[in-house]
Amino acid sequence: MNAIQVGLLGLGTVGSGVVKIIREHQDKLQHLVGCPVELKKVLVREKDKQRLIDVDPALLTTDPYEVIRDQEVDVVIEVMGGIEQTKEYLLEALHGKKHVVTANKDLMALYGSELLGAATRNGCDLFYEASVAGGIPILRGLVDGLASDRITKMMGIVNGTTNFILTKMSKYGSPYSEVLKEAQDLGYAEADPTADVEGLDAARKMAILARLGFSMNVDLQDVQVKGISAISDEDINYSKRLGYTMKLIGIAHRQQNSIEVSVEPTLLPDHHPLAAVNDEYNAVYVYGEAVGETMFYGPGAGSLPTATAVVSDLVGVMKNMRLGVNGRSAVAPQYEKQMKRPEE
Ligand code: NAP
Ligand code: HSE
Repeated sequence: MNAIQVGLLGLGTVGSGVVKIIREHQDKLQHLVGCPVELKKVLVREKDKQRLIDVDPALLTTDPYEVIRDQEVDVVIEVMGGIEQTKEYLLEALHGKKHVVTANKDLMALYGSELLGAATRNGCDLFYEASVAGGIPILRGLVDGLASDRITKMMGIVNGTTNFILTKMSKYGSPYSEVLKEAQDLGYAEADPTADVEGLDAARKMAILARLGFSMNVDLQDVQVKGISAISDEDINYSKRLGYTMKLIGIAHRQQNSIEVSVEPTLLPDHHPLAAVNDEYNAVYVYGEAVGETMFYGPGAGSLPTATAVVSDLVGVMKNMRLGVNGRSAVAPQYEKQMKRPEE
């Protein structure tokens, strides 16, 4: 089999991690899929910018169509962020029979059904493990590992930035704005961190989890969202004195034929396992009728953890290419049922 050619959209925090893993784990990737993996083109906004990793300047382009329309590109990896325009790029890539891997939860929460439908119609894979909980293989856990069970509830910490902020405020009394800046410098926060601190990023991830876990289409407008921007030092100190830890908790709950999804700051007793999940780490409890309680834990943001999920998806695509099949995009039709509110 010839080398797999990858077109990379974005060379920031996650994109540079993807390049590093493809380079440094090339032997393992070749062993798994039987051929080399090569970077064909890389989209950036500014070619001359100082980067976290060196890439041959000849591969860089500022024209997205040089990546998505390149006849030799087999797989497009989208780690640029954005919604409307990015959706158009990915639809064009899928129509051009290119497989897609994305880390973009905004896009998958809003347009997941449309994109997965396009992937299915074009016989392509569309994998998005990195869109929820960074390096934790939670989507595979739900789709593959717990495939035989009926999930009743998922609950956890799915935003690294806010967990980092709450941890530093609580442990060291660091001021909110200072820790937010630190989270941005470490590459955990979104380009506009409003989505992190106002709970929208976590809401989008919970919507993706609920769709996969409950096979229902979840409208983001139905997710109750409250972020952490209004949490003060006093709130945190007062809760500490009472033996509680403040965490931004997402919950998706199935009841009969309805589901409820919410994200809000929550006081957890200090002995609760989620109270011990600190810094940028995430953790999600998944409750299944048969399995009982499982907990997925790990780094929820950052360059290499997130890139691990992206490149593992790439491996999934490459294995499918070798076998001549396509994979998780086949779950798209299961999203057709619409989420109902409990009172409906
Ligand atoms: P980032 O550091 O801001 O990198 C974005 C990259 O995309 C940059 O290289 C930028 O080019 C390029 N880019 C963005 N818009 C572009 C445009 N219109 N045209 C050309 N190039 C463009 O972002 P990131 O943190 O890597 O996140 C990327 C995606 O992964 C987002 O969807 C994010 O939600 C998701 N994600 C991030 C993390 C994390 O921990 N950071 C974790 C999970 C998922 P320049 O470098 O030239 O500006
Ligand atoms: N901004 C996101 C977070 C990145 O802090 O969790 C990972 O999705």
